[in-house]
Amino acid sequence: MNTGLFISIEGGEGSGKTTLISGLASQLSAQGYQVTTTREPGGIPIAEQIREVILDRSNTAMDGRTEALLYAAARRQHLVEKVVPALTQGHVVLCDRFIDSSLAYQGHARGIGIDEVMAINEFAINGLMPKLTLYLDVKPETGLRRIQEADGREINRLDLEKASFHEKVREGFLQLSARFADRIAVIDAERHQEEVLASCLSIIMERGQEFSQSVSK
Ligand code: TYD
Repeated sequence: MNTGLFISIEGGEGSGKTTLISGLASQLSAQGYQVTTTREPGGIPIAEQIREVILDRSNTAMDGRTEALLYAAARRQHLVEKVVPALTQGHVVLCDRFIDSSLAYQGHARGIGIDEVMAINEFAINGLMPKLTLYLDVKPETGLRRIQEADGREINRLDLEKASFHEKVREGFLQLSARFADRIAVIDAERHQEEVLASCLSIIMERGQEFSQSVSK
């Protein structure tokens, strides 16, 4: 039976997730694997609607736990409607952000607690964890600089505040990587994107046994 291969890609802003995912998708497709790339909320209307509530700037009264519950609800719907069907067909699913984003952002950086956020997400995903998580680790200054270079603007005060928040996010991801070392691979994403892609491909291939049995070509 095909069970596919579920891989999540995590990292802070400017860590290069989007570039990596498109590189992985083209390399794996060229090798004959069927690949689904997605990101939360992944174009699933119910999940998109939930995300609009989270991102609505007029919702200033939103409590941190409410936000965490909404992310978990959107995650559930995206999982059921998009990830599970692709895995059932034996696809390699490359998902831009998953449970670890909630654990790092809401659990650690916003201070709700990793275990608390884990509990509601375990309910939401009902056992369907990624087999592998690639965490793209960059210093917040590097991520910020990359975003600014892309936008062509200077660093401002808000960016610096953001940098201290992103330092906490990074701390959260690194704690998770130590705690779930069997699942999460820490990738040095300060390197050139070609090197990052090559490292990630070789990590995926190292899991070759599991990979060849569960995915369809
Ligand atoms: P997004 O527009 O998806 O951009 P990117 O992934 O390229 O950074 O923004 C996602 C934002 O939402 C990002 O700041 C992380 C945050 N987020 C959480 O706080 N918790 C979550 O569970 C998820 C999935 C995202």
